[in-house]
Amino acid sequence: MIRVLGIETSCDETGAAVVEEGRRILSNEVASQIAVHAEFGGVVPEIASRQHIVCISQLVNKALEDAGCTAGDIDAIAVTNGPGLMGSLLVGVCFGKSLAYAWHKPFVPVHHIEGHIFSVFLADNPPAFPFLTLVVSGGHTSLIWCERPHSYRLLGATRDDAVGESFDKVARLLELPYPGGPSIQREAEKGNPAACDFPRAMTQTETLDFSFSGLKTAVLYRLREGGVSREDIAASFQAAAVDTLLLKTRQAIEQTGASRLVLAGGVAANKLLRARLACELGIPVSMPPFELCVDNGAMIAAAGYSRFKHGFLGNTWTRPHPGLPLV
Ligand code: KG4
Ligand code: ZN
Repeated sequence: MIRVLGIETSCDETGAAVVEEGRRILSNEVASQIAVHAEFGGVVPEIASRQHIVCISQLVNKALEDAGCTAGDIDAIAVTNGPGLMGSLLVGVCFGKSLAYAWHKPFVPVHHIEGHIFSVFLADNPPAFPFLTLVVSGGHTSLIWCERPHSYRLLGATRDDAVGESFDKVARLLELPYPGGPSIQREAEKGNPAACDFPRAMTQTETLDFSFSGLKTAVLYRLREGGVSREDIAASFQAAAVDTLLLKTRQAIEQTGASRLVLAGGVAANKLLRARLACELGIPVSMPPFELCVDNGAMIAAAGYSRFKHGFLGNTWTRPHPGLPLV
């Protein structure tokens, strides 16, 4: 039984988890910084890295304790080394490397998005490779062909804002609390999705790229015009964003002949997106459970287990990379 300690500190959540065989979560501790950043309306990088420093040691201890493990029970230490905020990544990478050095364990760097993709292996009925993945987070919106573990082909990506970023920016325009995704979702439940006709960008073209900055600008202009409720704007914005993701994913399925879709990233927690993907695509969709959609250590441990098995190890020279590409 291989047990991996997974550590995640790429943005504003500190995560530490122990996962067995890349599938079974023995513990999964997440310290959210939402309350700390809420008063600024978004993540303040310097504060984020300081918060990671404050809690990482206790969090890792708690994860080990919950799992009933000591250092001797851990086979590898997996840590997110990018992409993300440099200061935040540095905390996790330095902590993980130090632990690996002290415990004489392999150190496994993990790409944050690969972690999100591997979160579906922690759910029932994990997908078999190859599959198509729709990654939707605060920093990424991509369609990725996953041929086999750690072999990926980028089919399309956003040319400007990520979809999660657009939820966050529109929430700020609507004066809804940070983080924007859950706030918009709550507000949208009370509104009419057909109230405003917002653009579905790039949906008339063959490319599998996305663009979300025009949608945010359209919301700004509609707000300035006035005469429409906040709930209706939220509902119409969410409908446009989800429609765009669905249209592009359908195109990707047609172009690749994919027989399974994986949904991954923070926006995978969106109820409308989950419901529509599940019933409108005609192929099975693997989604992480709600609690594994946001950043966490378990997904890093799951991806780290596979990297460890395939021999993709790091060493003392491994550094964090804020712009680390997956492909
Ligand atoms: O994956 P994640 O935790 O961090 C990054 O890797 O970026 O994703 C965070 C993003 C934020 O933009 C947040 O607003 C969005 O996920 N999000 C949602 C929902 N929950 C979180 N967006 C839409 N609907 C949600 N329910
Ligand atoms: Zn993430």
